[in-house]
Amino acid sequence: MPKVLADQDRIKEVVVNLVGNAIKYNAEGGHVWVAHEVKGREVITRVNDDGFGISKEAQAKLFEKFYRVQTDKTRDITGTGLGLFIVKEIIEKMNGKIFVESEEGRGSVFGFSLPAAS
Ligand SMILES: Nc1ncnc2c1ncn2[C@@H]1O[C@H](COP(=O)(O)OP(=O)(O)OP(=O)(O)O)[C@@H](O)[C@H]1O
Ligand SMILES: [Mg+2]
Repeated sequence: MPKVLADQDRIKEVVVNLVGNAIKYNAEGGHVWVAHEVKGREVITRVNDDGFGISKEAQAKLFEKFYRVQTDKTRDITGTGLGLFIVKEIIEKMNGKIFVESEEGRGSVFGFSLPAAS
């Protein structure tokens, strides 16, 4: 793997947030897996889960400050709605991009790309 130019503590915060969500918005016995891919000059990290998934409408608002999805499954789960907002800020400050791919009832992929260091 090529190295990326990034702040180690902030990247840790990003991964803890994304893996935390993948566990939190999942059923018991669900799965979470993390993969890296090199694409040209970018290193892409994906956090996959087979949890609740997110509707298209909600996906459009996910990275907004304090936004939380309200469904029967998520109603009793507590949180501030700040995690993904902070994750996006961190990644963009490091010249990266964040994305989500998800299907309700199937699971989600949260990914981010960072430029390779050299
Ligand atoms: N992997 C995921 N699968 C399904 N829904 C998710 C996933 N990650 C995030 N979400 C939805 O997006 C919302 C926003 O996530 P975010 O991490 O910003 O806030 P939070 O988890 O509610 O609170 P916290 O600030 O403690 O992280 C969540 O409330 C949840 O509904
Ligand atoms: Mg969260």
